[in-house]
Amino acid sequence: MTDPNIRKFTFGKPFPTGAVIRDVPETAHLPYLTVSEDGSLSMSLAPETILYGLGPTVRGLNKRGWLYESANRDDSQHTEEKHALYGSHNFLIVDGPARFALFLDTPGWVVWDLGYTDSDRISITADDGFTLYLWEAETLPELVRGLRVLTGAPYVPPLWAFGFNQSRWGYRDENDLREVIRRYRELDMPLDMVSLDLDYMEGCRDFTVSRERFPDFADFNRELAGEGIHMVPIVDAALKADEAWPVYRECLEKGFFCRKEDGSPFFVGVWPGKCVLPDFADPEAAAWFGRQYRALTDAGVRGFWNDMNEPAIFYSEDCLREVFEKIRTFQDRDLDLDSFFEMRNLFGSLSHRDAYLRDYFHTVGGERIRGDKLRNIYGTRMTEAAAKALKEQLPDERVLLFSRSSYIGLHRSAGIWYGDNRSWWSHLKWNVAQAAAAGMSGFLYSGADIGGFGGDATGDLALRWLAFGIFSPLFRNHSIRGSRPQEFWRFGREEAFRGVLKLRYALLPFIYSEFVKAALSGGMYFLPLSFVFSDARSRRVEDQLMIGEGVMTAPVCEQNADGRFVYLPEPMRLFRMRSPKDFDTELLPAGDHFLSCTLNEVLVFLRKGYCLPLAETDGVRNSRDVDFSRLSALKYDEAPVSYTLYDDGGVRSELSLEKYGRTLVF
Ligand code: GLC
Repeated sequence: MTDPNIRKFTFGKPFPTGAVIRDVPETAHLPYLTVSEDGSLSMSLAPETILYGLGPTVRGLNKRGWLYESANRDDSQHTEEKHALYGSHNFLIVDGPARFALFLDTPGWVVWDLGYTDSDRISITADDGFTLYLWEAETLPELVRGLRVLTGAPYVPPLWAFGFNQSRWGYRDENDLREVIRRYRELDMPLDMVSLDLDYMEGCRDFTVSRERFPDFADFNRELAGEGIHMVPIVDAALKADEAWPVYRECLEKGFFCRKEDGSPFFVGVWPGKCVLPDFADPEAAAWFGRQYRALTDAGVRGFWNDMNEPAIFYSEDCLREVFEKIRTFQDRDLDLDSFFEMRNLFGSLSHRDAYLRDYFHTVGGERIRGDKLRNIYGTRMTEAAAKALKEQLPDERVLLFSRSSYIGLHRSAGIWYGDNRSWWSHLKWNVAQAAAAGMSGFLYSGADIGGFGGDATGDLALRWLAFGIFSPLFRNHSIRGSRPQEFWRFGREEAFRGVLKLRYALLPFIYSEFVKAALSGGMYFLPLSFVFSDARSRRVEDQLMIGEGVMTAPVCEQNADGRFVYLPEPMRLFRMRSPKDFDTELLPAGDHFLSCTLNEVLVFLRKGYCLPLAETDGVRNSRDVDFSRLSALKYDEAPVSYTLYDDGGVRSELSLEKYGRTLVF
């Protein structure tokens, strides 16, 4: 494969995001797009044109027909009418009579009107200067490969990060975690990680551990490590404004915080209360923040999730004061329609105002830059700093690192999760589109909160979500405090949950190998059908995904359904799997099928000429127990099939993974 011919076009004076790692010569003329004087880009769309990309944001795989914004935002209401979520992935594929891809490189606000105002037109408007990269290719995977040529290869986490991660906001102390682990063990359900949410810290102060709840953290880590369990603590972006806390004092003394116009710290409210926002755009400040992870790596921690880094702002100190002043004027008044709602909105509209981003400044190379100008790379800079520091602290090991906020470029250093979804069937279905879209931008290690973060999950939803989740590289059950407990042993049906969880572990060599192949080849792990098949119907399928080129999954996303319609572009062998060893199989012709699928089953489809390697799972408690050297395989027919397996042990830091591929014949 030759590299695509990438064209580069610069408008204004863009801030360097660091996303692009390849030198591309500038062109004066852009094909396809009309550039207006204000820098807006537009083109008309043929009726059959499909638009892909923009990362795991709202709505489906085909982005046509809605208005999206690149405006990283902590918004926990993931409803259809939203325009932006936590990440800005300015990558768009236009798949019509013209087939090309573009990457719009700018850390500021971008509006993507993708057939929203006029269903046959695209219009893209950036607030600030940008660099646009545009390339053509024959196929959709090659268009994605173009982005990798431009922005580099994805992060590959350690093998254990592909195991199962049990999380919940609300595990308070060592004993809570011991109990969770004990239950999984007792029920013979494999587990690799437990996530630690805010409660492990001392009053939500990053890099601290509550002595009361974790009297000897390093010792506890050793205890869990002995059982093959990794702890994955959360790290939030904002630092508590507490003069008695050395990390905060140092941040103040060194001037490593975002400032108001007058140079004083910009105080905001986040989980710990009053906080400062570290200035991650300042390389020295970012490196300083990265060094703080040592408090946890020294205790043996090897995995982290970086949160609240859009940045999330519940209120700014100044606005909160104004609101309190204003609210007094409502006292003792006869509140009518207008005044009552005005009063109610005073508090309701305090959180996550875009206006806050115009109230603070970064300092980059002595220059002051307003917050909104760099909004979309704030969390990326935080997580890149963590990745760099972790490499310095643990040069011989790969670590687990994922972030909520993201911008393309971060995919080289970390994964992402898709934030605060809900225990809704619609969010299970949406997860399918998110998984493919995240991979297009390079975030191969990504995933949604399985079972849904907000709201109360039901056993059937958890099982159906698990049936899709077992294929997801980032495989985590996470839920909000106060919601119905959501561990996979909370809903009865233990045999069903165990069977599907074990299937994940049987698939681990396959999942890891397909992941590494995608990372090495500039490809994707999850692919929409249209990326593999060229028939017209495949282009419209949004709820079935390929994993690599040979395997397809089709989750049931509807409550009380006893199966689902599945479209097969070519004959495939169906495995209706209840566990690695308990399944039935049938050969299906191309076309549409209604396939039954009971709650304890996972529908897995195999193409002719491919196989699905499976590991032994008897006695497997976590990824450490999975034996990559003893694999069997599910096959389409009797003909011998070869499979390239990647087995590098899964922890070493060097990433020349090529040499670990070996071909097996089944
Ligand atoms: C944010 C995160 C969520 C976490 C919570 C508390 O909402 O997205 O995953 O549980 O903060 O830390």
